[in-house]
Parts: sequence; structure tokens; C-alpha cells
Amino acid sequence: MQLSAQDFQRWDDTPDEYFYQQPRMVTHIDDAAIAAVTQLYREYLPANGVILDLMSSWISHLPDDVDYKYVFGLGMNAAELAANPRLDDHLVQNLNVNPTLPFEESSFDGASICVSIDYLTDPVSVLRDLSRSLKTNAPVVITFSNRCFPTKAINAWLQRDMQGRLDLVETFLTQAGNWTNIQQLDRSPSPATDPLVAVIAYAN
Ligand SMILES: C[S@@+](CC[C@H](N)C(=O)[O-])C[C@H]1O[C@@H](n2cnc3c(N)ncnc32)[C@H](O)[C@@H]1O
Repeated sequence: MQLSAQDFQRWDDTPDEYFYQQPRMVTHIDDAAIAAVTQLYREYLPANGVILDLMSSWISHLPDDVDYKYVFGLGMNAAELAANPRLDDHLVQNLNVNPTLPFEESSFDGASICVSIDYLTDPVSVLRDLSRSLKTNAPVVITFSNRCFPTKAINAWLQRDMQGRLDLVETFLTQAGNWTNIQQLDRSPSPATDPLVAVIAYAN
């Protein structure tokens, strides 16, 4: 897939700090779609592992009945992250300014990116550094639905349907170059709910 600089532009190109200044203590997908995200985490993220919730907020959707050794959240709003009961620690970092993650190599056993990958203007760099931050064979679970903040999503996202977005995320991971066993899943609960799809991949 050929992508141009225009594909990564957004309608609102003001610094993300403005848009994410106000905390949004809301859910971005319906309860059934959230349950599908939680089920994916149950299946793919190792219990008792050290987990990175990238592009995190006040809620991580991790299963209540599964213990993790440590959960780290990185996002844009300090109040949201401080209110997230699953996080042991957190950091505010604008990945569109600095796509390099402040972690040692092989720090995490698994990572999640929920309904957020569409806001990255350099997703390939972020995903490449995410693989570096994960242990070999650790999974990332990237989930999304058909909702977004359109002014903040990249053009390539807005121009595609759900299958096109799955292929786009797979392309980001392939171009990052350090992911294997990339899989697309459709876990949409029913036609009456928000759709929920995922791309899973494993760090090299
Ligand atoms: C739609 S919310 C989803 C939040 C959470 N993952 C969830 O499932 O509810 C988008 C998230 O992406 C994060 N985000 C957006 N732009 C970002 C950026 N430039 N750098 C880091 N995080 C960003 C925001 O902090 C926000 O929490």
C-alpha cells in the first residue's frame, strides 16, 4: 500500500495538547464493544504480565478478574490517566511530537491501543518503537470501531471503510518492520452494537 504525506494530515493540525486539554471521562464505544475489547485482552495479554496501555485514558478495559504485575498508561490527559484505576503509573507524552517511547528494550509483556491508532501522524515510528519496548513474541492488541474524533484522525483513516482500516493498520505494522504473525479479527458483537475489530501482532 502506497501512502503519501497527505494521508497522514488531519483537518485540525493544531497541537494535540489543545484538543486533549479537557479531561473526557466518557466511553468512546458502547458496552458490548468494550466487552469485546476486554475479551481480546483476556485472550491475548498475559496474566501477571507487565502491560503498556498506549494512548490511554481513565479506562483501560482490562478484565477485572485478571491480575497484571504492572500496568503503565501513556496518553495526553493527566487527569484522565490519574483517574484510571488499572494504572500503576502513567505518563503524558505527545506521540505526534515525540514518537519514541521512554522505556528500556523488552520492558513489557504485552500492549494495547484502543480506539486511538487513527490519531497518530507517524504510526509506523510509534509501532516500531513499541516493538522495541516489548519482549520478543509479546503481543500488541490494536482495537477500533467506526467512531472517531474526525478532526483529529488522519486522512487515510477517514477515507477508508472498516476493512480498509484493518488493512491500513496491518500496513503500518508491516512498514515498522519488526512485527510478526499479524492477524486481523472481527469481534463485532452484533449488528445492533458498535462494530469492534482488531489487529494483533507479535514483537520480533
Ligand atoms: C478516543 S480516546 C481513547 C482512550 C482509551 N484508549 C479508551 O479506550 O477509552 C483517544 C486517546 O488517544 C490519546 N491520544 C491522542 N492523541 C495522542 C497523541 N498525540 N499522543 C499520545 N496519545 C494520544 C488521548 O490521550 C486519548 O486518551
